[in-house]
Amino acid sequence: MKTTDLIDLGNLPEKLDKFSIALTLANISDPKQPLIYMNSAFEKLTGYGGEMIGQNCRFLQGEEDNEQARAEIRLAIEERRRTQVVLKNVRANGEVFYNMLILLPNGEYEGLPDMMLGTQIDIGDHAPGSESDIDSDYPRDSAAAARHRSFQLQVERRRVTAEAALRLTQSWCALRSHQ
Ligand code: FNR
Repeated sequence: MKTTDLIDLGNLPEKLDKFSIALTLANISDPKQPLIYMNSAFEKLTGYGGEMIGQNCRFLQGEEDNEQARAEIRLAIEERRRTQVVLKNVRANGEVFYNMLILLPNGEYEGLPDMMLGTQIDIGDHAPGSESDIDSDYPRDSAAAARHRSFQLQVERRRVTAEAALRLTQSWCALRSHQ
């Protein structure tokens, strides 16, 4: 678990660190959109830790292009809406992996910056196509169909868990803004 010194997140980091899925919080009120928190699962997944607090999370892309996904993320942040994209990312040890990133806006709370919660899902080391490709590419044989379904269920479970982390963050923000 790593957090910024610039924003007092109180005991929120300890709470978010209990989640086994990778979680990050970025301050999207700041034009640089820096990471202000990453949990232990994110550190384990990427190999990056506290040295990246204050950096924009694009550091994970290394030299990779990700043009389409990045354009969608920029728009979603601007519109303060949720999104889901697949990015080619690079771990600290140089290993490439495909990251299904789900972004959820936290909403506005008085006295606090706008934040976006991100969860990173490692979907392996070969290009999967985008989420819409996965949906439209209906598998032909039953083993592939079962794998496809199991993948979809896994993503769905992660999304539900990330939404729980979001509600927790929102409750913390609501309490803090009334203090
Ligand atoms: C991101 N971004 C991001 N990018 C990435 O490659 N891997 C990641 O795990 C994440 N995680 C992440 C979490 C949160 C909370 C936010 C708000 C964003 C996206 C990245 O920071 C940046 O927004 C995109 O690269 C699009 O902007 P640029 O690079 O085109 O300016």
